[in-house]
Amino acid sequence: MESALTLNTGARMPVVGLGTWKLWCTYHERSLVRGACEKTLSDLKLDHLDLYLMHFPMGLKPGEELFPFDAEGQVIPDNSSFLETWEEMEKLVDAGLVKAIGISNFNREQIEAVLNKPGLKYKPVNNQIECHPYLTQEKLINFCHSKGITVTAYSPLGSPERPWANADELSHLKDPQIRAIADKYKKTTAQVLIRFHIERNVAVIPKSTNPGRIKENFQVFDFKLRKEDMNTILSFNRNWRVFPMDWASKHKDFPLNAEY
Ligand code: A2P
Repeated sequence: MESALTLNTGARMPVVGLGTWKLWCTYHERSLVRGACEKTLSDLKLDHLDLYLMHFPMGLKPGEELFPFDAEGQVIPDNSSFLETWEEMEKLVDAGLVKAIGISNFNREQIEAVLNKPGLKYKPVNNQIECHPYLTQEKLINFCHSKGITVTAYSPLGSPERPWANADELSHLKDPQIRAIADKYKKTTAQVLIRFHIERNVAVIPKSTNPGRIKENFQVFDFKLRKEDMNTILSFNRNWRVFPMDWASKHKDFPLNAEY
């Protein structure tokens, strides 16, 4: 997990894509964490995971429902705190079930709470967050890197397939300004959107079910975005989210109320 890939640019990237899985929110209570991980290992027919992330800082009511909702459409919390859940995840490392542990969708204050937890045994190695040109996350990325926490960008292409997308919204992949940059490098917009993260030493996980596009998405190591183009892309930030998580906005550990 701690290994690094040396790119032809000389940049060093954390390798976070192999054997990575997440602990779902309805398994945050102390008694449920190990069983959830063991079930994942059994489902995947693996004897360990390279990286296990806490999917959200928010614990939800245990049970069959992935998203237990109340009458107002808000998720129903459990009785856990993410610090307790973290302690149980640390035990998974000691038990050899996972090589490293990390977090996802945590804000700065929540990360600090983990780092400052009395008796902390293992720091999170990675924070997986939504990140793309309309949500550049500069402060959160800088904070994570300053603490030695690698960052992974999810939804790097803006997840255009999501069911709740507005028909009239501008999609990253069709954004003429991003296309103009891509044209300069004779690359596709997807390749520029992916390379954008590599330039920032951020791991990136574009999703595709199409073999041709999966191949295209790997062809990002033979060019480098110039600083002025990076600055242009960073200027597209408008703190727009694919996943605003409105369904959890009243949870005590909702991560998106903070500036970052
Ligand atoms: P598909 O699976 O048909 O390739 P994100 O990673 O931001 O969540 O975005 C995933 C979406 O982007 C999927 O709908 C995927 O569709 C599409 N996608 C992935 N790679 C490319 C690409 N190179 N060009 C265009 N669309 C892509």
